[in-house]
Amino acid sequence: MNKGNQLYEGKAKKVFETGDPDLLIVSYKDDATAFNGLKKGTIAGKGVINNKMSNALMRMLEKEGVPTHYVKELNDRDTLVKKVEIVPLEVIVRNISAGSFAKHYGVEEGVVLAEPTIEFSYKNDSLGDPLLNEYHALALKLATREELDAIKKYAFKVNGILKKFWLSCGVTLVDFKLEFGRLADGSIVLADEISPDTCRLWDSETGKKLDKDRFRRDLGGLEDAYREIMARLEQKMEAAK
Ligand code: TMP
Repeated sequence: MNKGNQLYEGKAKKVFETGDPDLLIVSYKDDATAFNGLKKGTIAGKGVINNKMSNALMRMLEKEGVPTHYVKELNDRDTLVKKVEIVPLEVIVRNISAGSFAKHYGVEEGVVLAEPTIEFSYKNDSLGDPLLNEYHALALKLATREELDAIKKYAFKVNGILKKFWLSCGVTLVDFKLEFGRLADGSIVLADEISPDTCRLWDSETGKKLDKDRFRRDLGGLEDAYREIMARLEQKMEAAK
């Protein structure tokens, strides 16, 4: 399948048409941004890692019964996906306090939450992705009640599967962001990516951050952290073969 017209260029990916109206190609870049695009940089090799990691995790989730947009990895940076209409919500699941949660609620980073939490942001860069609740999402017609129920069910299921997988790699899944889309038949599937850009992943022993917080917070060792987390995943996948 070859790339057709470029439909869209985001902060970390480009999206292309294909010969099939139901399929798109996403192409992962090395570009990184934070704070709604205010901070810009590149992380060499990130696009390849995020592409391969996201695909491996989506294949795992599909096997466990979570529908996703994933179709086929085409090469190091490009993946064939089902065309979806993105639900304009960032769906964030947290197991441990960190980032904006720690700041909003005055909790130190690293506190294990009594239960996993879910929150939604309105995916709208010009508004700075404001937090909203389910009533807001319904009022703004961003999603239907049925869609929100499906999204919550899948998001917690993804959390259970990924938490267990990362733990087996010696990594703690602190929190992550998901996006969902509607297929042509209206059904909800997991879309976008699952990568160190969209998850907080801490070494279970040392607490070392193996994710994009190294870029957001200028911690250095970016490329190494991305390579290390990918190596952990690949080792586990190899062992499971
Ligand atoms: P937060 O603590 O900054 O709200 O981030 C929660 C999780 O969501 C964290 O794993 C990073 C991820 N995330 C994104 O993927 N995209 C974003 O734009 C933001 C703000 C967070």
